[in-house]
Amino acid sequence: MRLTVIGLGYLGATHAVAMAKLGHQVIGIEQDQSKLESLRQGKIPFHEPGLDSALTEVLATGRLTFQSEHDSQSSSAEIHFICVGTPQKESGEADTSYVVSATKQLAKHLKPESVVAGKSTIPVGTAAKLKHQMSEIAGFPVHLAWNPEFLREGTALEDSLKPDRIVVGSWDQYSVEKLKEAYQPILETGTPFLSLDVETAELVKVAANAFLATKISFINAMAEIAEAAGADAVALAEAIGHDERIGKKFLRSGIGFGGGCLPKDIRGFIARAEELGVGSSLDFLKDVDQINLRRRSRVVELAKQELGTLANKKVLVLGISFKPDSDDLRDSPSLEIARRLSELGAEVVIHDPVALAALKEPGKLKPEQNLEVAAKDADLVILGTEWKEYRDLEPAKLKVKSKVIIDGRNVLDVKKWQLAGWKVIALGRNIQN
Ligand code: UDX
Repeated sequence: MRLTVIGLGYLGATHAVAMAKLGHQVIGIEQDQSKLESLRQGKIPFHEPGLDSALTEVLATGRLTFQSEHDSQSSSAEIHFICVGTPQKESGEADTSYVVSATKQLAKHLKPESVVAGKSTIPVGTAAKLKHQMSEIAGFPVHLAWNPEFLREGTALEDSLKPDRIVVGSWDQYSVEKLKEAYQPILETGTPFLSLDVETAELVKVAANAFLATKISFINAMAEIAEAAGADAVALAEAIGHDERIGKKFLRSGIGFGGGCLPKDIRGFIARAEELGVGSSLDFLKDVDQINLRRRSRVVELAKQELGTLANKKVLVLGISFKPDSDDLRDSPSLEIARRLSELGAEVVIHDPVALAALKEPGKLKPEQNLEVAAKDADLVILGTEWKEYRDLEPAKLKVKSKVIIDGRNVLDVKKWQLAGWKVIALGRNIQN
């Protein structure tokens, strides 16, 4: 099939490569010239394991091309996937202006038989407005469907090619059939296909992310209790996770969730529920957000407890991306902790295997790529992102002034670090040193 993918950020670039890998002829459309150039040269403009080589592979087949505007070839595509971003406004609402302008632009070129499939995360009720606007511009009833994406950074390509489910919300069976055809190779492997009404499909993504955020904040609330009661939140998560109804996944306590999805999606969801007159239904998500943010403050508190005054103290923060295997710094908990410690007067050195290059404005933070140099004379080390490099770190090899580490992700082998002479502080754990 001939397809277009409009907007080539994390979601769009991955989706374009995935669809070309499935054998489709894909045209990626992106206005940002530097992104476009990079993609044409086979370079993904962000860090995502395996995506560069997959891009090179599909570019060589000629099945994936890139351009900045619609033309007659792209207009004749059978499906146009909308993958532009919906960032958070200051008010907490989702900013849908990029989706609105991308769909309006597309409507001018659209063919009546083409299907428009939105993948961006939008507030429930947006697709109906978009369909109306597009149909007015196009002069015919546009086939619009909503097809949310659930990929995680770090495993994006795998998540796109082997998703847990494919969800399509639509007003017409024609769009459903076209999308089934596009995803046929995935569906053949037994992946569930859910054909829903549009409003439910719009809700699936934010509801899933709200649930995941709630699960993380639940265990982080238990970590607060464990800290006060002398218990261990990691052992608690293990014990409750054995109950299959609860499960162990997404029960890792620590400095909490960040990134471009979970924080903004729960805030956007709260704002939309308020607009719908059912704000109180999502009041609990405000607590989920607050618990999450409190974990960052807790690390700052622990650092102050450990160091006394922060002036003239050197803190090494290991990891600045919001999660490992990504260079995404959006709402990164560890980066926020680093900045707050720096504002409080500490000299903060930041290390990350990949993400330092993505930090365009370090301010007073001191990026250092060489771990040995970064660690020199440190009074405190904070593990903020659980990159494999840090999980596997030999404590004896980390030469610092004072052997104290705060494990912000509860991933270190505490005994091993203690045997090497380190004091280990962890969230929710009451470790005896
Ligand atoms: C998330 C959803 O998982 C994905 O389905 C959706 O499409 C986009 O948003 P992503 O933001 O890539 O994906 O990362 P995810 O793996 O969900 O982690 C989000 C944050 O939660 C990270 O900061 C991670 O460190 C944190 N986290 C995750 C925890 O603190 N504890 C956990 O147990 C799991």
